Amino acid sequence: MKSKIFFVILIAASLACNTISNFGAATDTPVATPIPPEPDFEPTPTFEAPPNPNPGPDGIGDPYFEDLGNGGYDVQHYSIALNVEMGSNEISGSTTIDAEALQQITSLNLELLGLTVEEVTVNGEAALFDRNGIELTVFLPEAAVEGDPLQIVIVYYGVPGEGIDVFGPEYSEGWIYYETGVVVAGEPTGASTWYPVNEHPIDKATYSFAITVDQPFEVAANGILEGVDESGSESTYRWTMDDPIAPYLVTVAIGEFDIDEYTGPSGVPIRNYFGVGVSENVRENFARQGDMIAFFEEVFGPYPFDVYGVVVHDQDLGFALESATLVVFGNSFTDEYVVAHELSHMWFGDSVGLKAWQDIWLNEGFATYASLLWTEHKYGREAMDEEISFNYEQLATYAEFLIGRPIGDPGSENLFSFDVYYRGALTLHALRLAVGDEVFFEILRTYAERYAHSNAATADFIAIAEEVSGQQLDDLFDAWLYQVDLPDIPEMELSAADFVE
Ligand code: ARG
Ligand code: ZN
Repeated sequence: MKSKIFFVILIAASLACNTISNFGAATDTPVATPIPPEPDFEPTPTFEAPPNPNPGPDGIGDPYFEDLGNGGYDVQHYSIALNVEMGSNEISGSTTIDAEALQQITSLNLELLGLTVEEVTVNGEAALFDRNGIELTVFLPEAAVEGDPLQIVIVYYGVPGEGIDVFGPEYSEGWIYYETGVVVAGEPTGASTWYPVNEHPIDKATYSFAITVDQPFEVAANGILEGVDESGSESTYRWTMDDPIAPYLVTVAIGEFDIDEYTGPSGVPIRNYFGVGVSENVRENFARQGDMIAFFEEVFGPYPFDVYGVVVHDQDLGFALESATLVVFGNSFTDEYVVAHELSHMWFGDSVGLKAWQDIWLNEGFATYASLLWTEHKYGREAMDEEISFNYEQLATYAEFLIGRPIGDPGSENLFSFDVYYRGALTLHALRLAVGDEVFFEILRTYAERYAHSNAATADFIAIAEEVSGQQLDDLFDAWLYQVDLPDIPEMELSAADFVE
């Protein structure tokens, strides 16, 4: 099958550069690891910080990304109004953040990488602020106590990524400019390249966007297009995203697009944005999304958002990203498996979000398994079993090149490594074989429903699996997620010992 050939190429490419750990399996080429960079620009402004007895914590406590996210407040809504100069890639405008204090605080932190902050106000009053690396500290004009509403307006401008040396052609994260367009791919830490944000998946929020570009450029973003205001040669695209989403799932797409709109068989409106140069062959790969939604609704429960679609940039991105309701693709990596994989993230990753990055298999293992389920649905159980066996064999054979860490704790540098995807998928398959189809799909639906538009950890999933099945499943999950050795799948006569000498 196509995906096998693809996999073999990935293995070959990885062996060639002697690292198998840093590529994102089905949707990724070997790319530089997206670790938050240490920017080497001067913090601005320099001033004597005001008395600050109750600073909000500058991290949310994620073991993988100490600095990311912030404590002391919770964001409800971001309203992002930006003018984008397509000739120079300069952005300018404001982000308005509606938040609530979770404790007594005299300052709060946001993440913002590079860019120049001109002005900050809090509840209408001018606020002092400081920059230090990725952290933007806002000193509250008046101390806040638990439950206080905070409206923070940050006025800023600059060229995203400018002066930050980790940004290069191979750095596939954040605001990516390519002259005839802009791609925004935020996972895991790219959101702060273009707007000030509480950059952790645990703090979900709704969004509205007003993005202004010169004609003939067009703008797409998450959610619903509310309208386009034209003024002279400029157009402002107003989009809203009414369900709360994690910062890394926010996307804006700028380019010239052909828009393909229809309603899928289960009633979900679909709007695809194809870059004008994208070939018919590539567009064809997205024709089955309506059927895929209908199938996934059967096995996972109702589609969790109001709308779906993709933006396919006419660029060889080397990855796809499940930005909520508007999945980002390049002009490669668009085969049926990747299309199904990304769509399934709407349930697993986007609606049910992560509590911590360590549990990334809850996103990638689930989405990889979802595309295997699509294979089973479309081409039969035998085709799926063949895929499973093939993937098992690859995991066993190439064990020594894999991350050497359990997928339940892969390390921040291995979030998108092959084994997170495929061993994650096989974990679900092992569960299915242990509890039977009926119970297995009940587990998936219960999990998708209970944590809809919220966040879950591995322990939450295991608890549901045990609750729904009535079985003790610690041993199964421990072997698959927290041990390095690949467990056997006796039901399929798959034993790691047969592949590793
Ligand atoms: N979550 C994406 C996928 O499975 C992979 C994203 C990789 N990150 C990146 N910045 N390229 O489908
Ligand atoms: Zn994925």
